[in-house]
Amino acid sequence: MLGSGIPRVRRMWNLDGWLTFFVPAMAAVVFVVLAYVLRRGVFKRLHRLIMEERLLERERMARDLHDTLLQKVHGTLFKLERLANARDLSEDHRRRVSEIEEHFRQIVIEGRDAICRLRGSASSKVDLDTQLDAIRSFASTADIATTYSVRVVGNPRPLRLEASEEAAAIVRESATNAFRHAKAKLVVVAVHYSDSFLSVSIADNGVGMPAGIVQGTEREGHWGIAGMRERAARLGGRLSIVSAVPHGTTVELRLPKEVAYPTRTF
Ligand SMILES: Nc1ncnc2c1ncn2[C@@H]1O[C@H](COP(=O)(O)OP(=O)(O)OP(=O)(O)O)[C@@H](O)[C@H]1O
Ligand SMILES: [Mg+2]
Repeated sequence: MLGSGIPRVRRMWNLDGWLTFFVPAMAAVVFVVLAYVLRRGVFKRLHRLIMEERLLERERMARDLHDTLLQKVHGTLFKLERLANARDLSEDHRRRVSEIEEHFRQIVIEGRDAICRLRGSASSKVDLDTQLDAIRSFASTADIATTYSVRVVGNPRPLRLEASEEAAAIVRESATNAFRHAKAKLVVVAVHYSDSFLSVSIADNGVGMPAGIVQGTEREGHWGIAGMRERAARLGGRLSIVSAVPHGTTVELRLPKEVAYPTRTF
C-alpha cells in the first residue's frame, strides 16, 4: 500500500505538470487582473479629463455671458435710468421709459440666474485699444458725472491676441464697476508697456471697495471680480486690487513679457 502511494504523490508535484497547467493559468490570471486595473485607471483618468474640460467650458460660457450681454444690458439700463430722471420728460414718456427699464431689469435677473446655473458646477473678442475707445464713447454719451482718461507709459507695441482680449475684458469690467459702484469723479486707465511686463491698471477716486471683496470673498451672484481673477490666472498673470474706503480703488493686471508680447518683438 505504502509503496504504491509514493509515486502518486511524486506525480502530483511533477514539475512538467506545473509548467504545463498552473504557470500559464497563473499568468493568465495576473494578465487579466493587470488589464482590469490598467483599464480602470485609464478610464478614470479619461473621465476626469472630460469632466475638467466640461467645467472649464461652462466657466468660459458664464464669463462670456457676464462680460458681453450682461455688461451691455447694464449700460443700457444706466442710460434709461438717466433718461427716466430727465426733468423735461412728459409723464407719459417717463412711464414708458420706466416700463422698458423694468424689462431690462428682468433681463439682468435672468442673465444672472443663467450665470449662476453655469457656474453651479472658469472671452470676449475685443482687443485692448478698441475697448479703451468703447469706454471713452460710453463715458461721453451715457452722461455720467465721471471723467475718464487713458494714460500710456512706455512705447506702445503689439500685444498677443489673448493677452489683449483678456486685458480688454478686465478693463471693461473694472470701468463698469467704477461707473456703477464707486460714485467716482475720475476713472484713469493706465497702460504701461515695459520691456519685462505689461501692466494695465484702472483707478477710480470713489468710495472704495469693501475689504471682504478686496480679500477675495466674492458676493453671491456677482461674478465680475471672480471673472477678472480667473482671466489673469489663466494667462499666468497677476490681478491685484488695492482699495481704501473712502479713497477709491485700483485694479491692476500685470502680465509677464512672454505672455503679453509676441515673441518676435524681442
Ligand atoms: N470700483 C469699485 N468701487 C467700489 N465698490 C466696488 C467697485 N468695484 C466693485 N465694487 C464692489 O464689489 C462688488 C462686487 O463686484 P463684482 O464686479 O464682482 O460684481 P457686481 O459688479 O456687483 O456684479 P456683476 O456680476 O454684474 O459684475 C460690487 O457689488 C461692489 O459692491
Ligand atoms: Mg461688476
